[in-house]
Amino acid sequence: MGKITETIKDLIQAELGQNQQYAKGKKHAKIIAVCSQKGGVGKTTTAVNLGSALVKFFNKRVLLTDLDPQGHVEKSLSSIVEEGIDYSPMSEILMAKHGEILDGVVKTSDENLHITPGDKALYETEGQLASKLGREFILQNTFSMAKTHYDFIIIDCPPNLGNLTINALCAADYAVIPCEMSVLAFEGVNDLVDTLETIKTRLNKKLQVLGVLFTRVDGRNITMNELVETNMKKQFKGKIFRSKITVNTALNKAQLEGEPVFDFAPTSSGAVNYEALAKEIVKKVNPEKKVQRVS
Ligand SMILES: Nc1ncnc2c1ncn2[C@@H]1O[C@H](COP(=O)(O)OP(=O)(O)O)[C@@H](O)[C@H]1O
Ligand SMILES: [Mg+2]
Repeated sequence: MGKITETIKDLIQAELGQNQQYAKGKKHAKIIAVCSQKGGVGKTTTAVNLGSALVKFFNKRVLLTDLDPQGHVEKSLSSIVEEGIDYSPMSEILMAKHGEILDGVVKTSDENLHITPGDKALYETEGQLASKLGREFILQNTFSMAKTHYDFIIIDCPPNLGNLTINALCAADYAVIPCEMSVLAFEGVNDLVDTLETIKTRLNKKLQVLGVLFTRVDGRNITMNELVETNMKKQFKGKIFRSKITVNTALNKAQLEGEPVFDFAPTSSGAVNYEALAKEIVKKVNPEKKVQRVS
């Protein structure tokens, strides 16, 4: 008898969608996709340290969603991710009929920083999404409950403009575009911004470029930096972050240690730069509110 009741309960829950098992929260998350079709430009470093800065200094609750099959978010935070927690892999959540991102969330030792762990099966998901009805909006649908529990959901995108990145951009309110200061990077950003415009027109009207972020800036290349910056500012008026991320080995070492840079080297330029970026972003998404830093 007990078994039958359990089965009926499961059937009802399946009918209602898994969302029903989570209570609705009171928050309205801003969703930020960190994207670039190029690898190695600082997407993961930015997603992880921006997320961590928002939690540590600005009292926000943040979910880092890793859509890159390489799973670098989890690796970058391996020392602080809680072990032994049961979760559904991202690929299963995306393929489920009523996938719910909260089923895939794991906590870290920073109480308000949560992540979705790496999932190599996302390599297959990229192709499988192609045959799904409404394929661009599958990720967006998994966020409906999570949006009420976080202040920010940050998506670390794979280094291409495939189905997973398109899903991130259809779910996002904002795109952050990390880019190195080179002439070739300029071309890459141009192509990406074109794609963002198309997505905005056809699929997600609320999508905005929050900013292009200069990463791995080498202060010694004065002439090249000035040339790239001047051209970028001309092309993307008002869309270049004031904050820049300079080259800093502490960022690299922190990633290898599996910690946010604020834990590994709190006084490094990487820590200072990413805190400044977080402050700029809090202000940009909520211009009417005064930014309060946790002391
Ligand atoms: N500002 C920086 N200074 C030094 N190394 C950096 C900086 N930003 C990123 N890196 C390093 O460069 C590599 C690529 O960065 P990553 O964030 O993983 O790029 P992506 O996610 O775009 O592929 C990593 O080893 C990272 O530690
Ligand atoms: Mg990455």
